[in-house]
Amino acid sequence: MSRQSPIGIFDSGIGGLTVAHAIKQALPQESLVYFGDTAHLPYGDKSEAAIQAYSVRIANVLIERGCKVIVIACNSASSAAYELLKEYVRHLAHVIDVIDPMVRHVSSQFGGRKVGLIGTKRTIQSGIYTAKMERADPSIQLLPLATPLLVPMIEEGYFNNQISHDVISQYLGDPLFGAIDALILGCTHYPLIRDEINEFFRGRVQILDSTAVVAATLKTYLESAQLLSDAMPTYEFLVSDYTESFEASTRVFFHEPARLQRYPLW
Ligand code: DGL
Repeated sequence: MSRQSPIGIFDSGIGGLTVAHAIKQALPQESLVYFGDTAHLPYGDKSEAAIQAYSVRIANVLIERGCKVIVIACNSASSAAYELLKEYVRHLAHVIDVIDPMVRHVSSQFGGRKVGLIGTKRTIQSGIYTAKMERADPSIQLLPLATPLLVPMIEEGYFNNQISHDVISQYLGDPLFGAIDALILGCTHYPLIRDEINEFFRGRVQILDSTAVVAATLKTYLESAQLLSDAMPTYEFLVSDYTESFEASTRVFFHEPARLQRYPLW
């Protein structure tokens, strides 16, 4: 592993490219290897054991490619497999999830306040945000809600229209969110509906998107470990199953097209 080694980023599919985009913006000299487990998505409805098995396979691929850091871009995988992957990978690479950086960010800004959380069923049912927030700052009241329709809705291109407006209003109109000060977007796809969520709350609630927070955590780590790259970056995008529609979606999540290479896990 050296300064010029790539950053490995993985997700259940293409949605984690929102995190890859934020990392590319914050660290333009870093090479990236992105792995989307498109053969097994969605992770949001899978068991913890299944996600752990997929995550270990993907970590092997990223380690074989010499990645100095593995970023678990997926909230569902972060909730199911972060502790396991840290144990598994050990000194071979540093592992960063998307939950701890957000918990640190919220606990530094929202002491004594009410904070909503939306995510997949796997993320919400794991209770991991609640447990970690409780440890970081018990004065924060975290209010979690599973919003499983949002991922398929976004993947089908339904955002900034009447359907997304109705689905978002139905979920966020839940009385649970009546008096929140901030809302955590606990899923790779939700940055795409950030503006609609902001409109729903009429700017009254701070919308917390983890992509920039995770990129900042990665940057801090690379600086402290003296692992910042100073070379020309390269980008590689691997998927466990290839379709043209996955490739077409890369533009939406990564803000530019990405050429996907098929890399079956089994
Ligand atoms: N990437 C997942 C997450 O952030 C959402 C998509 C899925 O369920 O696989 O939780």
